[in-house]
Amino acid sequence: MSSSQKYDFVDKALAKRKKRHQFRELTSFIPSDAVTLSNGDKQYLNFSGNDYLGLSHHPKVTERSQLYTEKYGAGATASRLINGTFDIHDRLERKLAQTFGWESALVFNSGFQANSTIISTLTDRHSLILADKLSHRSLLQGSLASRAAFRRFKHNSVTDLADQLKNADEEDFSRIIVVTESLFSMDGDCAELQKIADLCNKFGALLFVDDAHAVGVWGEQGLGFTHSVKGIDIVLATCGKAFGAFGAFVLCGKEMRDYLLNFCPGFIYTTALPPAVIGAVDASLELIPNMDSEREELYKHIKIMQKGITEAGFSIGSSQSQIIPIMVGSEENALNLAEFLKNNGFLATAIRPPTVPRGSARIRITLSSHHKKGQIEEFLTALNRWSNG
Ligand SMILES: Cc1ncc(COP(=O)(O)O)c(C=O)c1O
Repeated sequence: MSSSQKYDFVDKALAKRKKRHQFRELTSFIPSDAVTLSNGDKQYLNFSGNDYLGLSHHPKVTERSQLYTEKYGAGATASRLINGTFDIHDRLERKLAQTFGWESALVFNSGFQANSTIISTLTDRHSLILADKLSHRSLLQGSLASRAAFRRFKHNSVTDLADQLKNADEEDFSRIIVVTESLFSMDGDCAELQKIADLCNKFGALLFVDDAHAVGVWGEQGLGFTHSVKGIDIVLATCGKAFGAFGAFVLCGKEMRDYLLNFCPGFIYTTALPPAVIGAVDASLELIPNMDSEREELYKHIKIMQKGITEAGFSIGSSQSQIIPIMVGSEENALNLAEFLKNNGFLATAIRPPTVPRGSARIRITLSSHHKKGQIEEFLTALNRWSNG
């Protein structure tokens, strides 16, 4: 190969993406509050963020972030196992475990980093990973990075999972790990967690649940869909969504925590989260259990949005939550609708393959308690104009 050809693969891949209307680009914004962004002289109402409770701009959250920076510096300056564990990291983990009712918690730098490295840490080449077909890319990445056998069960099908566990039981795996999200990030539907946990228990399989989009929003005191379920081995939650900050944590038993901090490369070989982030997460953690009225407001928004989208003639798939897809089918339709909404002052991102299966391109709406009823109604008026025009 000549040196002039060495980037051919890049050119070809990008050309293919463009041809299929799947090319992605970055746009920069300046946020003015939890649901408003601007770009130049244009202001947009954001229906694509994950700041479900508006905590990114809560004064207690930003204050503690600043306070920790002043007191502890801008960076943790080392990995957790070297000397990047400050007392604030330690305290936060104890508080997370206590609040969520688990034996222990371990903070990771991001949900992606946790998911993409924990799963392979839990498996060897004689193990089996059984993952829901629509699991988040980070879970897929973690599964594929392991040397274990990898199979997927039909989305949200406890029956298929049961069949696959039964079959696997007759094979000779060192262990089986079942992986699912609790609230699916692109469809907004929910897994039947207790049934899955009971099945895992029956077959002696480990259960890893990604509760990223439910924590803060659902369950008693916003402690997630996993909170009331018995039999989960590891819960992953992120702090970049309802917590309004950054980072992630796992909830697990004490021995599992020891195992992960001894063997999980995504925890070991990276600089610890900076004090600013720990401060923000710490403050959000104190606020979240007491935000029932914000959650009630959000639940009302969900009902209005679901009804309005359906009445405008679109399917919302099987969404049951603050994540509501407006199904449009083709990539081109999704891009056109996103552009129309943007021109009307609304940010609602087009989600296209390969993030979602082919033929299921959509606008993915996410709601925050900080949206106002009137803003949702304005959005629905614009959607109706598109639908009728
Ligand atoms: C279901 C799910 N898991 C994990 C992640 C990754 O979390 P983080 O943003 O903390 O890397 C995301 C976010 O994109 C997600 O939607």
